[in-house]
Amino acid sequence: MTGVEDAVAALRAGELLILPTETVYGLAADAGNAGAVAKIFEAKGRPRFNPLISHVADAVAAERIAVFDDAARRLAAAFWPGPLTIVAPCRDTGAVSDLARAGLDSIAVRVPGHAKARAVLDAFGGPVVAPSANRSGRPSPTTFADAMEETGGFASAALDGGPCAVGVESTVVSVLDGRVSLLRPGSVTREEIEALVGPLDASGEGHRSPGRLTRHYAPVSPVRLEADGGREGEIYLGFGPGAGAERWSLSVSGDLREAAANLFRLLREADREHPVGIAVALVPLKGLGEAINDRLRRAAGFVG
Ligand code: TXA
Ligand code: MG
Repeated sequence: MTGVEDAVAALRAGELLILPTETVYGLAADAGNAGAVAKIFEAKGRPRFNPLISHVADAVAAERIAVFDDAARRLAAAFWPGPLTIVAPCRDTGAVSDLARAGLDSIAVRVPGHAKARAVLDAFGGPVVAPSANRSGRPSPTTFADAMEETGGFASAALDGGPCAVGVESTVVSVLDGRVSLLRPGSVTREEIEALVGPLDASGEGHRSPGRLTRHYAPVSPVRLEADGGREGEIYLGFGPGAGAERWSLSVSGDLREAAANLFRLLREADREHPVGIAVALVPLKGLGEAINDRLRRAAGFVG
């Protein structure tokens, strides 16, 4: 297994790295090295119009590549390091290649909280792009083994950071044009963001995130939503006490954090059994439930 030094050496050499974060595992490269960034798009089979998140060590480093307004600064101060990504106007520094931004004049930045990710970013010194380490359109990996199975073969170094504590990808918030809008729900909730910066702008929600346009997070087996039990041949992922088999429960106690942490792992494990289908209960929509339901709807092929 790779240590932090080897991980940084791989980035400097223009190679790919399996990088643990508290949300999901990432497939990382030096953001400024277009050749390295191109390897990510190839490994994931990712459309090139879909930009990548730049990960940096702290908010000061973030402001070297992005232009922050007051709302962005408040969000960064409240939630970094942590599972929040901020989309802001980009600074033209060359530290992040055009390819990584898919040619946009905005940039997505994040300061992750995972200790190993932080150690890599501190030692590397520059921005590191890292999409989720799944092949494009598949569920994000939340364990080291799942990350290795998805794209490990393309990486020359891999850091084992244990199971991801959060389990769904970071909340993505745009501060473009002086409006704060939610592009992707995550474990930093709508309610928490609104408490800090006021009501979110709903007009362009989701529209500016190119990666949200495709079918996403999908297992091979068909996913059936809002199920109150499994039909013949289905695996049922329940939520709350007494809902289906304990082994397949998102959370027996009905805890949303636990459900988020289990979600992608259970979808993958269910898929491995080649069931007729995967039936899932929708979880309550409040708080983290918005992110969980968003991923479930996308896994079932509903986009928007
Ligand atoms: O939790 C996470 O965010 C993980 C870990 C590894 O950091 N990363 C992740 O990256 O989920 P990815 O590439 O799978 O998702 C990034 C999302 C995509 O939907 C992409 O379209 C959007 O962020 N995005 C990136 N740059 C953007 C920009 N300039 N404007 C709007 N959306 C952007
Ligand atoms: Mg992804």
